[in-house]
Amino acid sequence: MIGEPATDSTALDEFHAGLERDFLDGLWRIQGQARDARTRVRPYLWCWETIYRHLLRAGELLRVERAADRRVLLLVNPGLPEIRAATHTFAANVQLIQPGEVAPSHRHTATALRFIIQGHGAYTTVEGERIRMGEGDLILTPNWTWHDHGNETAAPVIWMDALDRPLVAALQAMFFEPYPEERQPVTRPDDYSARKYGAGLRPLGSRAVPALSPQRAYRWADTYAALTTLAAAGEATPYDDVALEYQNPATGGHALPTLGCTIQLLRPGVHTRAHRHTSSTVYHVFRGRGWSVIDGQRFDWARGDFLVVPPWAWHEHANASATEEAILFGVNDLPALEALALYREEAYPDPAGHQPVH
Ligand SMILES: [Fe+2]
Ligand SMILES: [Fe+2]
Repeated sequence: MIGEPATDSTALDEFHAGLERDFLDGLWRIQGQARDARTRVRPYLWCWETIYRHLLRAGELLRVERAADRRVLLLVNPGLPEIRAATHTFAANVQLIQPGEVAPSHRHTATALRFIIQGHGAYTTVEGERIRMGEGDLILTPNWTWHDHGNETAAPVIWMDALDRPLVAALQAMFFEPYPEERQPVTRPDDYSARKYGAGLRPLGSRAVPALSPQRAYRWADTYAALTTLAAAGEATPYDDVALEYQNPATGGHALPTLGCTIQLLRPGVHTRAHRHTSSTVYHVFRGRGWSVIDGQRFDWARGDFLVVPPWAWHEHANASATEEAILFGVNDLPALEALALYREEAYPDPAGHQPVH
């Protein structure tokens, strides 16, 4: 705060009022607020039982058609009720599609991804490529790609959606367009991109580096094989145990420009060390049970639950079982923070690496 000369306060008040009338302000009036800004994102756990109960009820009450084109429950962070998102930069949702339904085709500048929680054989079509959905698969819908979903099986299919909607809204770059028909035409063989790029191969003669990942699907069988190979070799990180990031095969970088996706296996009995970083993460518990400590608060989780770690919050994870593995799928905003040179991280300053729980 710059010093105020010993003038009478009435003169200063009049000066400030004059600034406001002319749409100006003095930095000295807001400096404290700006420097001490703290996140409003709160750590929170959404239980699968609760989500599932409401989702089934939505399945009874709402039909998917043009008017209500997605049956989606939004995870609402208790610190951010007005943006209806799990964290300040991206939304995490759970979507249900009933047998015979089609979620009509559209595109938007918000980037989306899906991680399949339950069911087999429904599909999503992204830019003319029909992609089968299986449990544990990750499917990308990059910025401004046409996409629709359908379920031609006899059972409901449920997946997690993540979208960088709050970030795109903050940048005021949100655009949305419905496709003129319910479904876009299928112009490529089924699972085209996963077959083309999934083996780590790239077409000869193509040196162009696409900004958006040309691979749209990552199959669970491949992901799990990579995880278990790493676990068997004992390759683990102190903060996430056995962990992999889904990559854009054309760049080796993050799967999407704004959102990163990870899969991590906490080996039986493992308790990771605590750290914190400016990126925030939403975890979906794909297998197993355990707990996480976030800024001193313990959250016990089990299969299907969702957990959010706010930016710059100390966090550590533990597998509660001595025999079973625990697997967490994670979405984070690390690519956006890195692109803006705002990423930083810190290890918890305790020899054992654990926070006290209160
Ligand atoms: Fe969409
Ligand atoms: Fe972390």
